[in-house]
Amino acid sequence: MKPDFKREQAWWEGKAEGEERDLADEPINRALRWREIERNLKGIRTIAEVGAAAGAFTLPLAKRGYKVTHIDFSAPALELAGRKARGLKNITFVQANATNLSVFPDKSSDLVLNMDGAVSFCGKEAPKTIKETCRICRKKLIVTASNKGWMVPVWTYCTLPKFKKVVHAVTHMAKTGFWHYDQHPHNRKTTPGYFGTLQSFLPAELAALIKKHGFRVKQCHALGSLANLCGQGTVDAALKHRGAMEEFLNLCEYFDKEIMPGGPGTKQRAGLLAVAYRGKSA
Ligand SMILES: C[S@@+](CC[C@H](N)C(=O)[O-])C[C@H]1O[C@@H](n2cnc3c(N)ncnc32)[C@H](O)[C@@H]1O
Repeated sequence: MKPDFKREQAWWEGKAEGEERDLADEPINRALRWREIERNLKGIRTIAEVGAAAGAFTLPLAKRGYKVTHIDFSAPALELAGRKARGLKNITFVQANATNLSVFPDKSSDLVLNMDGAVSFCGKEAPKTIKETCRICRKKLIVTASNKGWMVPVWTYCTLPKFKKVVHAVTHMAKTGFWHYDQHPHNRKTTPGYFGTLQSFLPAELAALIKKHGFRVKQCHALGSLANLCGQGTVDAALKHRGAMEEFLNLCEYFDKEIMPGGPGTKQRAGLLAVAYRGKSA
């Protein structure tokens, strides 16, 4: 049940152009991630992003003067980001698979981001990706990954109406958070086109994987559940009115931390967030 990285890479390469077109509640997820990044920039000079796609995070950070390493295995994504970075001298683009970042020395970046894809879409190799992401991190780590609390309902509604029963893929997702295209006979019929592998997590599972590598997990909880639970009308209204958006984001953060840390997270994009510090660094 290993990931087929050749196919994974081709699949992501097909998505590079549309990467920054946000659907549904994605802008809320993105805004919440920006807030978390902003909070963690104190004492940071160098930043690496693993799975950085077209540069939605790396380019603004480089423009603000941070020395940025933009890592992705998708050549079109790197090209696209590279074009947008013309003139910027403090950003480096590196093609690499997140499961093997051996071109980078240990602790080579102060802050390492790995958000929305390069952990969960490594399937069974997700722990390797986390290990590598932690290894290159000197101070602070921000990871987002697929949230089991949302993947189980998604897998259920994608399969129960179609197969008129709860298929193995759903129970497997509920128990292990794992999906692979070849895992059960129903799986290939479940998703139209290629959908290779996925590993989703509970907050405690993701936190445990990060802790193993000498990090103190400052927070690990669902990301943006309120936006998902309130629905599109609420999200659209928040996006339309600047004041409401800021208040809504405050409420989302409170909801994720204090009310439903194990909630489903956003509908779109990885709905589980971990912030961790190496050793005692703050
Ligand atoms: C959904 S995008 C996320 C982009 C950005 N991090 C963000 O949060 O907006 C996921 C990116 O991760 C990259 N990716 C997925 N698996 C990867 C892997 N194993 N190694 C390197 N990059 C990977 C894809 O090519 C894609 O550009």
